[in-house]
Amino acid sequence: MNGDKHQAQGDGNWQVIRQTITVPFAYPVYFGRGLFDAANPLLADVLAGTVPDRRPRLMVFVDRGLLNSSPDLIQRINAWLATWSHRCEGVAPPVVWEGGEAAKTGWEGLKRCVEMIVPLRLDRQSYVVAVGGGALLDLVGLATALIHRGLRLVRVPTTVLAQNDAGVGVKNGIDAWSTKNLIGTFAPPYAVINDYDFLDLLDEVDWRGGIAEAFKVAIIKDRVFFESLCRSVPALMRRDRAAMEFLVKRCAELHLAHIREGGDPFEMGSARPLDFGHWLAHQLEILSGYRVRHGQAVSVGMAVDCLLAESIGWLTGAEAGAVLDGLRSAGLPIWDDALDRRQPDGRRQIVEGLESFREHLGGQLTLTLPRGLGARDEIHDVDMVRLERVFERLARGENISAAGCSTGRSKQSPATDVS
Ligand SMILES: NC(=O)c1ccc[n+]([C@@H]2O[C@H](COP(=O)([O-])OP(=O)(O)OC[C@H]3O[C@@H](n4cnc5c(N)ncnc54)[C@H](O)[C@@H]3O)[C@@H](O)[C@H]2O)c1
Ligand SMILES: [Zn+2]
Repeated sequence: MNGDKHQAQGDGNWQVIRQTITVPFAYPVYFGRGLFDAANPLLADVLAGTVPDRRPRLMVFVDRGLLNSSPDLIQRINAWLATWSHRCEGVAPPVVWEGGEAAKTGWEGLKRCVEMIVPLRLDRQSYVVAVGGGALLDLVGLATALIHRGLRLVRVPTTVLAQNDAGVGVKNGIDAWSTKNLIGTFAPPYAVINDYDFLDLLDEVDWRGGIAEAFKVAIIKDRVFFESLCRSVPALMRRDRAAMEFLVKRCAELHLAHIREGGDPFEMGSARPLDFGHWLAHQLEILSGYRVRHGQAVSVGMAVDCLLAESIGWLTGAEAGAVLDGLRSAGLPIWDDALDRRQPDGRRQIVEGLESFREHLGGQLTLTLPRGLGARDEIHDVDMVRLERVFERLARGENISAAGCSTGRSKQSPATDVS
């Protein structure tokens, strides 16, 4: 608000002290393998104490879903803690915690998580290490942000989506009152450690889900990355490690650059470019009772939003087709029957996602759409007739294809945005 205008509106008895605080946030994001190999000092180095003469204290949460695929993980973490006990102190055995969306649905899990941490008497110089998927990281992130107004959180993301997106940013949250991420904070982590070994354990759905977020950031920010993604799809489908490592690192890099340089890390404005496709995705997750996972929902959301962009001339038919081809060939959905559910007045229930999205950010509705591949622009109003046509095209399974991933540039394409 303009200060002078504010003063002019008062009755003359008010005084004001204007206060601006600048706080730099810094956290490293590591990429590699073998974090809990007994000989690996990385975690001890990351925790290296800031309190003289005291070993850093830590506790570890482990995602149960991960453990199902890696039953010896707890033993390995215990062995690691024993090996490095001269440099850090594990204050409790690793805590196995439910993963998946259920972990962050409702207040109960948050309360239990806080109740688990508090008796361990961790202070603001102590560490909580969360090892798991995006949902577990969101839950533990919120709990640690609340206790003593912020314990130090080290995220160890273990899904593709968590390594390239959910785990590297500055947010946490839980779902409540049927709204995704309604309760949460902005709380940058102390550090993030992406260990690619965990990705080998994923089932097909979660291996592919994170590929959707890579498409997302490529479509609105980096055309070269988009084209390389399309080329690497066969390798990704064979679960080629090098192809996935490249995808995770590049996608994380683009997210981190956006947070660092995009000018709005804590989302004070009404726009959220990295949430391209998400107005629909969040609503689809809810409508489907979380049957559709986040990454798959984002894929459907991007298919809809790319056809919407095509309908207003921001993408050529070939570009929109290239996106749909890319998603389909990566085994990602571009339609779900939940999009056909209707309100009593005949409107599609999914369209409520637009209002929820606006409400979440506040202010004017702002949707980011690609404007040429690798670049973006915003719309503030959605033409419902156009949107309905998009739904109908996808519902009919209309053959929308670029005949491969050639991406003839649309006239409006601004330069690729690498911010
Ligand atoms: N905070 C943010 O900025 C942000 C950004 C994007 C997404 N998200 C959130 O992230 C969540 C999605 O995260 P996700 O895709 O990681 O899914 P997820 O956390 O729901 O995990 C998916 C499943 O994989 C299991 N799992 C985890 N690691 C495994 C491994 N290595 N091997 C086998 N199974 C494993 C989990 O137990 C779970 O069952 C959503 O809730 C979404 O809203 C948050
Ligand atoms: Zn997402």
